[in-house]
Amino acid sequence: MSWIKGIFDFFCSERLTLDERDMSDGTTKESISDYQLVGGAEGVRALVERFYQIMDETPAYRALREMHAADLDAACEDLIGFLGVWLGGPRVWLERRGGFCLMSRHSSMGIGANTAGQWLAAMREALDGTIQDQPLREKMLQVFTRLTEAMARSGGAA
Ligand code: HEM
Repeated sequence: MSWIKGIFDFFCSERLTLDERDMSDGTTKESISDYQLVGGAEGVRALVERFYQIMDETPAYRALREMHAADLDAACEDLIGFLGVWLGGPRVWLERRGGFCLMSRHSSMGIGANTAGQWLAAMREALDGTIQDQPLREKMLQVFTRLTEAMARSGGAA
């Protein structure tokens, strides 16, 4: 479970740098291979583009879709950048941001159980469709489950 804890700490770091993450609990080696397992930059892009396509096209995810801007391009590029760093890829996105706290960023969005569940369901579909490596898919889903549940708890919506 140290992998999970490391990633969760990473997501919650107030002023994250990859160097801090490297020192957290030794997850880096594993994470670098995760980036390769996903298929590098192309693999991350395929996952995220599929995620937003599913969100955009699935009536059951309308509440989640309506929280986003009409044009999903910016959200898509940010999630690509974020997940690339998280999986152990190049840190360009994070350096450009100068730090990023995922939980703070989402705390005023009014996320509730409904929209958190929709996010997770759309991501599960995208993972199933784009990530070949089953153990990695399950690890990612486990972390996303914890994160979305935490966001729903602190989001202040029903
Ligand atoms: C709990 C369900 C979630 C909901 C309802 C949600 C909703 C949103 C929305 C509406 C935005 C766009 C904000 C804007 O346009 O200003 C956004 C941005 C973003 N989300 Fe989420 N999100 C959720 C979970 C997650 C998770 C689990 C992750 C990471 C694995 C994530 C990563 C991001 C990133 C990186 C951005 C870009 C933020 C930025 O550039 O400042 N989200 N989210």
